[in-house]
Amino acid sequence: MTDGTPEAATGVLRPHAEQEYADELARLAELDERPRPPGWRLSPWAVTTYLLGGELPDGTAVTPKYIGPRRLIEVAVATLATDRALLLLGVPGTAKTWVSEHLAAAVSGDSTLLVQGTAGTPEEAIRYGWDYARLLAEGPTEKALVPGPLMRAMRRGAVARVEELTRIPSDVQDALITILSEKTLPVPELDTEVQARRGFTVIATANDRDRGVNELSSALRRRFNTVVLPVPASLEDEVEIVSRRVARLGRALELPAPAAGLEEIRRVVTVLRELRAGRTEDGRTRLKSPSGTLSTAEAISVVTGGLALAAHFGDGVLRPADLAAGLHGTVVSDPAADPVVWQEYLETVARDRPGWRDFYRACREILP
Ligand SMILES: Nc1ncnc2c1ncn2[C@@H]1O[C@H](COP(=O)(O)OP(=O)(O)O)[C@@H](O)[C@H]1O
Ligand SMILES: [Mg+2]
Repeated sequence: MTDGTPEAATGVLRPHAEQEYADELARLAELDERPRPPGWRLSPWAVTTYLLGGELPDGTAVTPKYIGPRRLIEVAVATLATDRALLLLGVPGTAKTWVSEHLAAAVSGDSTLLVQGTAGTPEEAIRYGWDYARLLAEGPTEKALVPGPLMRAMRRGAVARVEELTRIPSDVQDALITILSEKTLPVPELDTEVQARRGFTVIATANDRDRGVNELSSALRRRFNTVVLPVPASLEDEVEIVSRRVARLGRALELPAPAAGLEEIRRVVTVLRELRAGRTEDGRTRLKSPSGTLSTAEAISVVTGGLALAAHFGDGVLRPADLAAGLHGTVVSDPAADPVVWQEYLETVARDRPGWRDFYRACREILP
């Protein structure tokens, strides 16, 4: 268990959002004079400010967590204030998990009430399980019951998160219907039920590409308002997302600041965007797309990896040679089809682009 203070987060490899941004959340709560829905730590306005960033009346700067259309976040937050649950939908790497964590942190002060959806998620993960030693010794009692994250969220009036909802088998998904429509979780073994306190709601995420794997039943879908998170609209937006995230990650990993790294970040983002779109940014050259996902998340990890190389084995400045291997590994995920795609990109796009000579050479050098 964690107590949610910044002190509790020191030394932790990856603090929860409510720990990492405890100061911002506390400041927002202090200055927030708008009405808060029952069970909420902040008003919808303050939750939105926490996600999108801004300046508070006392001059405190709130860092943007999500970079993208304001309206999407407003719709998401407004949904949470109603009796409907929220479904964040999008291709991989569009910050669905990230937004869900920050929303839960801002609304309930706790982002950890989480069910990770997989093909093997059992119904107990959605409802509750039993402490079998106790169950055998005492029979079904309140003490033998092991509540899952949703039940705990219902009791506390907090936000529960369900990740990758569509990967969960349909019959297990159905366990959510009663919870979302009746706001109750029956426990027939104890002849009782748990009624959700006000403030309880669910944020689910699902991958666009999983569609058809386990399509949401229409009964379940009706309980959700869907917000589709788009891929970053422009190169500039994506460069900003990557730079911010990398700077923050770099600080946490105690890497030096990416001095003069912006040019390299921009290049990595350009390469991944062009390959993803199947054409160059100017629209002139058509390209083959590689098999793997080339999202913002991949750009973040390529640049972070490059920074670690630059810091530990280079001169501390991010250079093309620090990024070439990471980029190669990201683009070439299928050893049969992708090498051709990558070589073609290097020869037809990178080689003759002004200012890209060093980058082209660094990438060529490590080709097998
Ligand atoms: N629009 C965005 N604004 C801020 N961060 C973003 C954005 N898009 C992607 N990211 C970053 O990309 C990373 C991956 O996001 P994630 O939530 O894991 O994606 P998803 O769950 O959609 O696959 C996160 O670290 C997040 O910081
Ligand atoms: Mg995710």
